[in-house]
Amino acid sequence: MARLVLLILVLTAIGCQASMSPVGRSVEDAAPPAPTQPPGWQDQLRLPEAVDLNPDPHIVEVNLEARVAPVEIRPGVILKLWTYDGGIPGPLIRVRRGNRLVVHFTNHLDEATTVHWHGLRIAAAMDGVPEHSQAPVKPGQSFDYDFIVPDAGMFWYHPHLNSAVQLGDGLYGPILVEDPKEPQGFGDELPLVLSDLSLGLDGQLAAGDQGGTLASLFGREGDVVLVNGRQGPTLGMRAGVPQRWRILNAARSRYFQLALAGHEFIRIGGDGGLMPTPVRTDRLLLIPGERADVVVVPTASAGTELWMRWVPYDRGYGTAFRRKEDDILRVKYSADAPVLPPPLPATGRTIAPIDTSGATPIDIRFTNESTPTKFALGVNGKPFGGDDHLHARVGETQVWSVTNTIEWSHPFHLHGFFFQVLDSAGAPVQPIEWKDTADVPVNKTLKLAVRYDDRPGIWMFHCHILDHAEAGMMGMLLLE
Ligand code: C2O
Ligand code: CU
Repeated sequence: MARLVLLILVLTAIGCQASMSPVGRSVEDAAPPAPTQPPGWQDQLRLPEAVDLNPDPHIVEVNLEARVAPVEIRPGVILKLWTYDGGIPGPLIRVRRGNRLVVHFTNHLDEATTVHWHGLRIAAAMDGVPEHSQAPVKPGQSFDYDFIVPDAGMFWYHPHLNSAVQLGDGLYGPILVEDPKEPQGFGDELPLVLSDLSLGLDGQLAAGDQGGTLASLFGREGDVVLVNGRQGPTLGMRAGVPQRWRILNAARSRYFQLALAGHEFIRIGGDGGLMPTPVRTDRLLLIPGERADVVVVPTASAGTELWMRWVPYDRGYGTAFRRKEDDILRVKYSADAPVLPPPLPATGRTIAPIDTSGATPIDIRFTNESTPTKFALGVNGKPFGGDDHLHARVGETQVWSVTNTIEWSHPFHLHGFFFQVLDSAGAPVQPIEWKDTADVPVNKTLKLAVRYDDRPGIWMFHCHILDHAEAGMMGMLLLE
């Protein structure tokens, strides 16, 4: 007892610094602090975060405004862009799984818009589809989005009206949904929003119809590639200290195939959160709308400088022809001595395969409906706009076969529900992951399994090359 009192007295005398070191160890034995990223490592990539106005810890309540604003995409280069809250991308909305998110949205554009919450499994009335979820939000009007966020992962928001123009001109932003119960320690977190911009001859934003129908048929890719709204920003790294990149492809049409020489991407998750086991690759592909949760272990030596590159990807006729690799993110190692990287934690996620016995088959085709006088794309031989919806019932499981009949790949996206991609034998692709966006390559069929929970309503599916979607490559699913 006397000893204990003495110990307490000594600890009190040394003060709080010592009392934080582990009991039973002297100050000299205490573990050195964990190595950190170099100071300012993400300064050029930092995203503004939406400010939570609600003191309730379970509710995140933010304001969001669409408006045209000047944005500096690289030092000295200022463009007038379409923005959420004055920046590209829009503010990062950070919530916890299970939180209620309330977004007071106001439209200060010259045209109507809506906000779609890509990948979030919320009610159809909050899904942002004009006329079906809600009336378009006219200039000067507001709309409140209000829903519970059900899943952890990286999601995003963007307009669902005139989307090739509105999104192509800058309207998109990330939502990061955290779950404190998930394993931590993969690396220091960095959200990365990839996008591009089309500029006209005057160096300002190109007109919405730039390139005409032929460019739209190819899917218009911008001239300037942006990472977190910046052209060629620099990211700091320290040898051996892992980073966890939460990547989103928010481009209108561009496929992002990424390479970082000498490094591998350890993909631990995607659209619908963590995967059961990681996938290692030195070429990481993100199709429009898709997300990747990736650990990068800096394995080069101190002081190394290199670029992460965009690598041409053949997504159909002419899309890789004479294209060069493009430097998009400068990576700069600090001079700090390398440290031994910690082991990669297990994701701890198990995902059961969807039981497809008795599933309803749904066959759709992405088709070209153009005539000599009119550019039109469609689904099953019809451009969007008719009233022949697909049908499903709450609780039903369907297996979709999505066939691409034209010369360009299409990033298929289904609103409101996750699906599992099936291989040619009809088994889920391993490791199983939850997806909301998946590629349909030229002349190929994408097979996927989806099970509908109890959120009836009209749900859209479409190609996420938004030039294709706006030309008619969209459809509706009526869930009853
Ligand atoms: Cu991100 Cu209907 O789309
Ligand atoms: Cu398409």
